[in-house]
Amino acid sequence: MTVINSIADLREIAKRRVPKSIFEYLDHGSYDEHTLRANRSDLDAIKFRQRVLIDVARQQLTRPILGMPANMPLAIGPTGMCGFVHGDGEIHTARAARDFGIPFCLSTVSICSIEDVKQATNTPFWFQLYVMKDRGYTSALIDRAEAAGCPVLMMTVDIPVSGLRRRDAKNGLSVPPKLTLRNAIDIGTKPRWVWSVLRGKRRHFGNLADAVPDTAATSFAQWVASQFDASVTWKDLAKIRARWPGKLIVKGILDPQDAREAVALGADGIIVSNHGGRQLDGAVSTIRALPRVVDAVAGRCEVLFDGGVRSGQDILKAIALGANAALTGRAYLYGLGAMGEAGVALALQIIAREMQVTLALTGCNDVRDVDRSLLDDEAAV
Ligand SMILES: Cc1cc2nc3c(=O)[nH]c(=O)nc-3n(C[C@H](O)[C@H](O)[C@H](O)COP(=O)(O)O)c2cc1C
Repeated sequence: MTVINSIADLREIAKRRVPKSIFEYLDHGSYDEHTLRANRSDLDAIKFRQRVLIDVARQQLTRPILGMPANMPLAIGPTGMCGFVHGDGEIHTARAARDFGIPFCLSTVSICSIEDVKQATNTPFWFQLYVMKDRGYTSALIDRAEAAGCPVLMMTVDIPVSGLRRRDAKNGLSVPPKLTLRNAIDIGTKPRWVWSVLRGKRRHFGNLADAVPDTAATSFAQWVASQFDASVTWKDLAKIRARWPGKLIVKGILDPQDAREAVALGADGIIVSNHGGRQLDGAVSTIRALPRVVDAVAGRCEVLFDGGVRSGQDILKAIALGANAALTGRAYLYGLGAMGEAGVALALQIIAREMQVTLALTGCNDVRDVDRSLLDDEAAV
């Protein structure tokens, strides 16, 4: 393919370059994937209002996120095992985000550690926290994020237990990826990927080096199931709020009542998210949930949005419905799998350009002015 001008193009390249078990890990969702599909189809159903004969010679995409400057209203969402999509994937992604001027969020279950990313980028980044059974370890992770100067802690709350991703179970996804008779031909035909992963700093969860006994023989799903704490409650959120001096975001809210609870406990932001259709299959799409949550929060904290974002148009739809900004998961992972850091940078450029053109064609010059009037009245939400 010579011309790459969409996230779908990057996805096609990533599919060719990344081993099947890793590509399916990032691409798929839980159970029958109803929610995964709804995230996309409900975004597609929303229509813009085309406006004409307005001077749209220049568009402005900068808009702060949680009071911090951002060159477009998009942040890189946390994704586990990003460093197996491309060797040192977290570092490549963090650098692309830094160079574009948008926030990068590192997952608890990343391959590169908090310290690796700090050292390689020397730019503040956000840290996403999974509360684990060992609260001492959870607390140590918070200390490490603070020591690394992370301005934002993002507590993910929608995974007390893991939704089954059938492909992962069938593919025998493991940490580190194993060479088996079944996948040998597939991996053998992905030399770029093998080279990038072999050159990478680590083959394990960098943040959990002391916590994970020996995952070489353990499937990822089993490990997650054994470590994540199903008894986490709002009391834990309150404790983390009291403990964390920086901004706190709660990720994985779909319900207005939960949104109000998070605000009452002092969250600076919430993310309307269903984990990219990877957890509760049958949950409402995030774009449908967004307006209710925005109403419930009533401006008391920032409302961020993720789920199905594959274009600049998608981000503008979410902002029109009240989000302050969006996060991306798969869109940047496709870029990373396709071409490493350059692929993430390209994904961000594609999305930004789409946002600029869409703003112009809706008669708007500044993303800070976007509101519901950007959408067609009959927009199906
Ligand atoms: C491969 C993959 C790994 C993910 N890992 C995490 C994670 O470690 N922590 C987390 O809070 N969310 C995780 N998520 C969810 C994303 O942060 C985000 O909510 C989701 O990808 C948004 O949907 P999208 O992929 O359609 O953009 C992951 C998503 C994917 C695709």
